[in-house]
Amino acid sequence: MNHKHSLTITDNRTGKSYEIPIQYGTYPNYGASINALELRNIKTSEQDFGLLSYDPGFTNTASCSSRVTFLDGEKGILRYRGYPIEQLAEKSTYLETAYLILNGELPDQEQLKCWELGIIEHTFVHENIKKSIDRFQHNAHPMGILVSTVGALSTFYPDAKNIHDQECRNKQIWRLIAKMPTLAAFAYRHSLGLPYIYPDQELSYVGNFMNMLWKKSELKYQPDPVLERAIDVLFILHADHEQNCSTSIMRGVGSSYSDPFSAASSAIAALYGPLHGGANEAVLHMLAKIGSVDRVPEFIKSIKSGKEGRLMGFGHRVYKHYDPRAQICKKMAKDVFAVTGLNPQLDIALELERIALQDDYFVSRHLYPNVDFYSGLIYQALGFPLGMFPVLFAIARTTGWLAQWQEFLLDPEHKIERPRQIYCGTEERGYIPLDKR
Ligand code: ACO
Repeated sequence: MNHKHSLTITDNRTGKSYEIPIQYGTYPNYGASINALELRNIKTSEQDFGLLSYDPGFTNTASCSSRVTFLDGEKGILRYRGYPIEQLAEKSTYLETAYLILNGELPDQEQLKCWELGIIEHTFVHENIKKSIDRFQHNAHPMGILVSTVGALSTFYPDAKNIHDQECRNKQIWRLIAKMPTLAAFAYRHSLGLPYIYPDQELSYVGNFMNMLWKKSELKYQPDPVLERAIDVLFILHADHEQNCSTSIMRGVGSSYSDPFSAASSAIAALYGPLHGGANEAVLHMLAKIGSVDRVPEFIKSIKSGKEGRLMGFGHRVYKHYDPRAQICKKMAKDVFAVTGLNPQLDIALELERIALQDDYFVSRHLYPNVDFYSGLIYQALGFPLGMFPVLFAIARTTGWLAQWQEFLLDPEHKIERPRQIYCGTEERGYIPLDKR
């Protein structure tokens, strides 16, 4: 053993020392780890179970090794398969990025054409899916509809169970990425009581989504190219974010060999929670509450004094620097507003950011705008109601979920996910009959 790449732990209960190897990923200064099972050798006696590591919320536990996304929160770096998010947002499309995330390499021209055609072919959904959406209450939240209908896809495609067959997996990946916009648009139109619009296979992935959302009586829907590109870029920014809550759920459910539709339905359920997919909505409520630019200093003061809660859209569990996705959103907001008309809330947001980034409270805590600070404003300007914000996130993240699900299935270290616990309840005791209690 190379003694430079190991830990020596002394158990002061027994005086024994243990040497534990340190393992590395791609970068020696990022993600050095020890195998938690090594801790089990640390015992006070033969009967002792051995030491566990305790990490509620998994703030410092790697559940897998992955080659999909690299994220360095200290430096504000996000890369898919090695490519910086800034380059992908500027030069790629969502479908090309999806291919990259799923396959590890950018496609050549032929591969891209085949991938895009395959997606377009699978955009239609079974008529019974349409009928099942019809049965939801008119005011049903579109995320609730999405959880159910994505789960229901497993009943339409029972072959999806063949998760060890590569060809079959590919087919489900095509199906799910293709059908997500259709399901999302149907859920949206259901909430408005509008007839569903079938996919237009001559349009781009996003252009067709816009068609299914917003087509009225015109013969052919023509998406505005600036808005179409804005949604495409937002999809690229949200396509993957390594082991976040919903992705961990996707891997966890997939670890028991569930079909991908059931696993994705669980991931959508995780994303539905306001701590994960709902912060951009909270940003809009906050900006509405502030009301005008001149009230920003007073609002910041009340945040610092603890009277107003948190500055929504600021701070991140992983990013302790500017979230690179927020930079791109900020720039894009201006392009979108040039088409949709100015949103006065953008000025409030810019002033909030300007003041917060000069304020020691925020600087010393490494609180910078996250992706949600500007994305909600863009979604609102595009005409999406609040309930659709997490749905848009879910469409984009489907790529990441599927890539990570597949990676875990093919991982030679694959195991069903089953964490340990520290039992803190009562010791064994005898049952007391009801009449004696
Ligand atoms: N506004 C004001 N103060 C904040 C904020 C904020 N947005 N975020 C953190 N802080 C303060 C905390 O009060 C704490 O201060 P203290 O040390 O004086 O007690 C310190 O910064 C550290 O905060 P933690 O809660 O330990 O940070 P954590 O990494 O656990 O939280 C989180 C990250 C949940 C994102 C937090 O920053 C937050 O609540 N932000 C607002 C909500 C938000 O924008 N969420 C979207 C995240 S992006 C996404 O999910 C796609």
